[in-house]
Amino acid sequence: MIWSAVTCHRFPARDLSRARLLWKSIPCLAMPLHTKWLSVPLDFAHLQSLIIAQFPLGPNSIHGPDHWRMVQRNGLLLAKETGAIEVVVRLFALFHDSRRQNESTDAEHGPRGAQFARALYGSAFEISPEELDLLEQACHGHTSGHRHPDPTIGTCWDADRLDLGRVGIIPEEAFMSTEFGKRIARKGLIHPFIK
Ligand SMILES: [Fe+2]
Repeated sequence: MIWSAVTCHRFPARDLSRARLLWKSIPCLAMPLHTKWLSVPLDFAHLQSLIIAQFPLGPNSIHGPDHWRMVQRNGLLLAKETGAIEVVVRLFALFHDSRRQNESTDAEHGPRGAQFARALYGSAFEISPEELDLLEQACHGHTSGHRHPDPTIGTCWDADRLDLGRVGIIPEEAFMSTEFGKRIARKGLIHPFIK
């Protein structure tokens, strides 16, 4: 299976040209590269199915797949202005609540989500070490209530908080890390920003 075979390989930047040629020689995998560290294009559908299969709260959870889709939508919208690394935002959407054990108070689910991402790294998905570090930080701290100055981590946290309406909580500007997140929170609606 091509996908699982190539996920085992990473190419340092010095081999990037050779790797690009190899990549383009496989038509079904000729997709844009997103970092100077050659990462295997992520099969998000496959990764999502792996994560859903282990998700303790099931497919209808308020912290489950429907929420993950909204976080991804919000995050990719925010990233257009914040400059966040999109692959990290998308992975955050999948992992951040994936190890929740209940629908209410579970203060350690962020760290468990970060550990889970680390556990699947290299076998189920491949990103650069710097991107993995951002992903782990974002998952680990997303319930802290704090804001973060890093544009990628801040975008992840804003994307999650902008979906609080699903549990009856109005997102507040004061808890947004990015300027775009604050604008959306002030407006009270995200839809006017979706073109
Ligand atoms: Fe969440």
